[in-house]
Amino acid sequence: MSDLNNLLAANRAWAARVKASDPEFFTRLLGQQRPQYLWIGCSDSRVPANQIVGLLPGEIFVHRNVGNLVHQTDLNCLAVLQYAVEVLQVRHVIICGHYGCGAVQAALDGRPLGLIDNWLRNIQAVHGRCAHIDALPAEQRLDALCEHNVRAQVQAVCDTTVLRAAWAREQDVTVHGWIYGIADGLVKDLKVSCASPAERARLSIRGTAAR
Ligand code: CO
Repeated sequence: MSDLNNLLAANRAWAARVKASDPEFFTRLLGQQRPQYLWIGCSDSRVPANQIVGLLPGEIFVHRNVGNLVHQTDLNCLAVLQYAVEVLQVRHVIICGHYGCGAVQAALDGRPLGLIDNWLRNIQAVHGRCAHIDALPAEQRLDALCEHNVRAQVQAVCDTTVLRAAWAREQDVTVHGWIYGIADGLVKDLKVSCASPAERARLSIRGTAAR
């Protein structure tokens, strides 16, 4: 337990610092949160959503799991997505993967790790659809699959009932695919943003033609 005392002390110091610089900060957050963004990212401790894009508490709604995956049967992720889009009315859904992702590496290796192998099947399916990755030099395969995984999850978000229904009622919500470089702290936009069923359809065509 004593190991956690430093965290609790750090929390008290942080809250005091925030309050000193902005006395109304926490009072304002007591009202309804109005984030503009939903972040779906990897659980990796090196990829914290708020810090990377310089947002404060209250500004970004976050869902993280191993490999930044959107399984069509994942009630947790779908509930976050539905709440964010329909109740909070976020304007942007950001899928953010990262280079050197351990989940993608595990899927690429195919080495059995236990229960998580079931979760990573999704990434192996992406790999199966991107056969050209195996033709790349070994040192490029991981990062290439990290990027493809993000593209696939953008498509998965667009294909949920949540986004389809939002676009059908002409709600202004755009899905984006980003990838973060742990080595330099920079985010790269993979330019697969979709704000309508037509843009989602073009993504499929482009994906097939380019790969
Ligand atoms: Co990761």
